[in-house]
Amino acid sequence: MKMKISSSFRVLNGIACAALLVTQLAVAESPREHLSLDAGWKFHLGDDWPDALHLENSGTGSGPASERFSDSFWRTVNLPHDWAVELPFDWAADGSHGFHTLGVKYPTNSIAWYRRTFDLPKADEGKRIWLTFDGVFRDATVWVNGWCVRHHEGGYYPFREDITDVVHYGGKNTIAVLVDATKVEGWFYEGAGIYRHVWLDKTLPVAIAPDGIFVQSKFENNVPSDKVEVSVETRLLNKGKPVSDLTVENEIYSPSGQRVSSRNSARNFVEALGLFTAEYVDTSSLRVGLPELWSPESPKLYRLVTTIKINKQIVDQKETAFGIRTVGFDATNGFLLNGKHYELYGTCNHQDHAGVGAAIPDALQEFRVKKLKEFGCNAYRMSHNPPTPELLDACDRLGMLVMDESRLMGSDSANLKKWDDQIRRDRNHPSVALWCIANEQFMVQDTPQAASVARTMQAYVKQLDPLRPVSYASPEGDVFRGINSVIEVRGWNYHYGPDMDRYHAAHPSQPNFGSEQASVVGTRGIYTNDHSSGYVAAYDVVWPGWTTTAESWWSFFAERPWLSGAFVWTGFDYRGEPTPYWWPCVNSHFGILDTCGFPKDAFYYYQSWWTTNTVLHLAPHWNWPGREGQEILVQAFSNCKQVELFLNGASLGKQTMKPNSKLSWQVKYAPGTLSAKGFDAAGKVIAETKVETTGDAAQIQLTPDRKTINADGQDVSVFTVSAVDAQGRTVPVAQNKVHFSVEGAGRIIGVGNGDPSCHEPDVFVPTAPSHNIPVDKWRWEIGKIPKNRDTVPEYANDFDDSGWKPVSGGGPTIETPDTAAIYRAHVKLTEEDLKGEGAMICFSGCDDEGWYFVNGQFVGESHDWQAQPIFDAKKYLHVGDNVIAVGVYNGVAQGGLNPNVNVQIVGHVTTPPWARSLFNGLAQIIVQSTKDAGEIKLTATADGLTPATAAVQTQPCASRPSMP
Ligand code: GAL
Repeated sequence: MKMKISSSFRVLNGIACAALLVTQLAVAESPREHLSLDAGWKFHLGDDWPDALHLENSGTGSGPASERFSDSFWRTVNLPHDWAVELPFDWAADGSHGFHTLGVKYPTNSIAWYRRTFDLPKADEGKRIWLTFDGVFRDATVWVNGWCVRHHEGGYYPFREDITDVVHYGGKNTIAVLVDATKVEGWFYEGAGIYRHVWLDKTLPVAIAPDGIFVQSKFENNVPSDKVEVSVETRLLNKGKPVSDLTVENEIYSPSGQRVSSRNSARNFVEALGLFTAEYVDTSSLRVGLPELWSPESPKLYRLVTTIKINKQIVDQKETAFGIRTVGFDATNGFLLNGKHYELYGTCNHQDHAGVGAAIPDALQEFRVKKLKEFGCNAYRMSHNPPTPELLDACDRLGMLVMDESRLMGSDSANLKKWDDQIRRDRNHPSVALWCIANEQFMVQDTPQAASVARTMQAYVKQLDPLRPVSYASPEGDVFRGINSVIEVRGWNYHYGPDMDRYHAAHPSQPNFGSEQASVVGTRGIYTNDHSSGYVAAYDVVWPGWTTTAESWWSFFAERPWLSGAFVWTGFDYRGEPTPYWWPCVNSHFGILDTCGFPKDAFYYYQSWWTTNTVLHLAPHWNWPGREGQEILVQAFSNCKQVELFLNGASLGKQTMKPNSKLSWQVKYAPGTLSAKGFDAAGKVIAETKVETTGDAAQIQLTPDRKTINADGQDVSVFTVSAVDAQGRTVPVAQNKVHFSVEGAGRIIGVGNGDPSCHEPDVFVPTAPSHNIPVDKWRWEIGKIPKNRDTVPEYANDFDDSGWKPVSGGGPTIETPDTAAIYRAHVKLTEEDLKGEGAMICFSGCDDEGWYFVNGQFVGESHDWQAQPIFDAKKYLHVGDNVIAVGVYNGVAQGGLNPNVNVQIVGHVTTPPWARSLFNGLAQIIVQSTKDAGEIKLTATADGLTPATAAVQTQPCASRPSMP
């Protein structure tokens, strides 16, 4: 309850390790510091301070927004962090987002606070300080030292603030972020919280602007030759004095580290605008001979080092990785990479992985890109939003083309600003091959207005990034209206078949590609549809009306180079969009891989036709007790010329493989071994495979994807958990519940199993029990004006307050301005109460200012009438009777101590043991290193099975520079 009558009476009140190493070496001399703020945030779920945002004055943020707030009992989390994965499932929740208890129906789960402090040395005075959030889902309000510095809407775009004016040099600084994930943007799982990195950059007043470097390689006619011009645009900011004798030096280093080109440009004078920022753009052109071209097969990266000097002193230096390559589209030859037709073997993907949700560590981004490459995927569609920068870095390094997509279509100033930020941030990445202005704008796509908006967004790209093509993911057939009629490259979402041929014939100069195809559904290891469990057979069969089988869409595209290939919906399964069945299914299962990255049978279809590996794979598994003598559909995925199938050694016939297809047999089930041989054109056996009927699970197995990871607190090892029978064969139907524990230099950050209907937790969050003891029998008296923390006898335990007025009803009111009062109350605590983690005294407000004492000792003060101060008071409290006393000063109007004071008793923090059931034989555990070099030992146990232990070494490495 607030006591103030009107606010108008207020007076002013008191806001990947190796790549990284290279970067650091090159920029070691630079005064610029680019520091991670990922570690050590305090997190609180719940909108418990709804009044924190005060707009009447600056610096009046209360509750967690205030510098003085104590968050000592909040949970510590490291970024990236997604609290949506921590929430339980509920059938009444939003299914398209994965049935987590988030959103309008669950207000207490949908708003959260993050807080973090950092120290700035006095020596930084004069430097410019930037705070950058790579992405928060969804709306974020940011305070620095109590100053509200930013409100950002939208879950996918980066935002950055120059916080120089409000930081404390030579002291502690506090960042508080209120995140509101109530509103959604997409129709798929989107996460909640600060799920991407946060950075603090320090620069001198003259510095390279954020995202201020643009490097382009230009060949004559956009066709690679022996000589390339590398043009570099450098945007400089000056927020200081005018400067003279400024030089911009650019050096290019080859993939093997040789300096292959350099250029200096000098400028006599760079203007300054007093306190405002002056901008200056330098353009330089460099030549590189015999360039090593970037491609998915050979992802060669050059390094550009840009150095800014004033009077020969380095004032800033930045390194930019880039690739030399050309991309383009041709209406007849389709997509062109380095001047030649290049088939897009693409997949669409959301940012979501088992165990961690949207908060994907950089090393897991790399893991995911590698998984996609295993079946031949060479192109990644960021559907339907701008990507995390580290995902683009992984695509650059590992060789994966990218379609970089905006979240919303619009030519309004806010949307164009976001489009501008996205293009400037991403345009140096060689992986980015194509921009996509939007996906499936059903309501407007055919209108003249949509055509105009598309034209504007496309022109915007051409202005900022002239050498990349632009597309739109259109869900229409042979329709040449609205966006389709103005877009540079026609994207096809579905509608494969005659419509495409007709469209191409009618519009022969417009290039085409499949922006989204397939949408085949299938559950890993499941071979019959099961509506009640929400599972779909993993045979390549069509389901929802708009889908096609892998075989049919790909056979059509493979014959038409002008179509350029396509992006399959999807590479990985993701939470939300359960199709075709709803609850209890909580995930999509369109993926070629499940949510963990375990391959489904479709993986082998694509691997057969998208790679040059020899592939032979049989489906289903061969554990069908009770189905003896019944026919079972067997499929062979292979690129061998012929495949012969055997059951227990007896041939079931040899079949010839048509290109881009698969083979089928109906086989009467008998336990044993189903095997196959693959033959080349000369009839030679070039591949063999088998599936065997296994015994029951006898032992757990743990297999890390990497046995040595970096001890940087960021790197991860992804463990596969499986169960094997007594003969060591993986049991494809095992569903055992497995418990995990970890020792040494690592921690588990998430578990999963790829089961689209699994409601087991992905994360096990530390919790502490807590309960409130009300402090409600207050007495008070008008007293001396305390205005400081001096102890007066009235605060002492032995003071006799029996003659003071008791507080009743809505609490006392100091009726007159410039008046003080003292309030006293007693609270009894037991030994049990003081045994736990802490005891917080929670006040619901003190109007206007308060000085708080426990058993005669000062615990804190408040100077904001709307604040709800909380003090960590355990060390001042004791078993038995305790006295809480508050000196209150009312400056204007009425005032006093608000009622509703509690002692919050916090018990011991415990983390429930990590566990996950196997789904069809497999589960996944993601283990992250700490900063200690050593060993991580993971143990897995399950009832009745032999346990497993596996170790991963963590090696010393230069950690990402970060704020402690
Ligand atoms: C598409 C849409 C995707 C996804 C997919 C499911 O139309 O672009 O986001 O919803 O359908 O098949």
